[in-house]
Amino acid sequence: MQMIKTDTYKELSCLAADEIRELVNRKRDCVLGLATGSTPIGMYEQLAALYRDGCIDFSAVTSVNLDEYRGLSPAHPQSYRFFMNHHLFEHINIDMHNTYVPLGEDTNAERVCADYDRLIAQCGPIDLQVLGIGHDGHIGFNEPDDHFTPGTHCVTLNPVTIRANRRFFASESEVPTQAYTMGIRPILQAGKVLLLASGKEKAGILKKALTGPITPLVPASILQLHPHLVVIGDAEALSEFGR
Ligand code: F6R
Repeated sequence: MQMIKTDTYKELSCLAADEIRELVNRKRDCVLGLATGSTPIGMYEQLAALYRDGCIDFSAVTSVNLDEYRGLSPAHPQSYRFFMNHHLFEHINIDMHNTYVPLGEDTNAERVCADYDRLIAQCGPIDLQVLGIGHDGHIGFNEPDDHFTPGTHCVTLNPVTIRANRRFFASESEVPTQAYTMGIRPILQAGKVLLLASGKEKAGILKKALTGPITPLVPASILQLHPHLVVIGDAEALSEFGR
């Protein structure tokens, strides 16, 4: 595991964007595993700026997102498809047909999950998987459980996650209670995993995930087994790791 501590969120975002730029410049038709949430927003802004400056070409890139709320259509402003279009895809030259997010509006969980697993298999292994970490240690929406789930599945969100995501909705009752998420297998099979964390409130869970026992009760702890894990955190998020 490589751990990079930055002074600021801006620096974290620039370093993360550089990882993607380096990969895309080396392998134009790479597969990016992408995340939503607050943490990667700065990285997406940097990527859009790099594209505007002619430093990166996304025309042959495929992207596969981690998760989507069950029951939200792509047009819903809080859907993860909407998020990705708004924060990244509309600002770069990626072919929209090569961008994938689980189909939230289809409530047939079995079909959506099987289709997404097939799609991930067809795209080939993910070259670089970007992850954030939830307050309860989730990655994607792989919530604490008594086992790890390898494939795409439908999850009932943890109350901690619903509370954390409430800030994006008008009220807590509007936060969907279920989501589709990529399972652990494609994350572990990714060529490289980039785990991003910012802010004091992530310090405790990050320390637990990266140095505690590997357990499905802290889903991110499985990343300890990944041979090429890069953690980029700001000083607050990495405050429990000493100097
Ligand atoms: C979102 C996702 C989640 C978030 C996590 C952290 O696609 O996969 O696991 O990465 O909930 O969210 P933020 O960055 O908002 O703290």
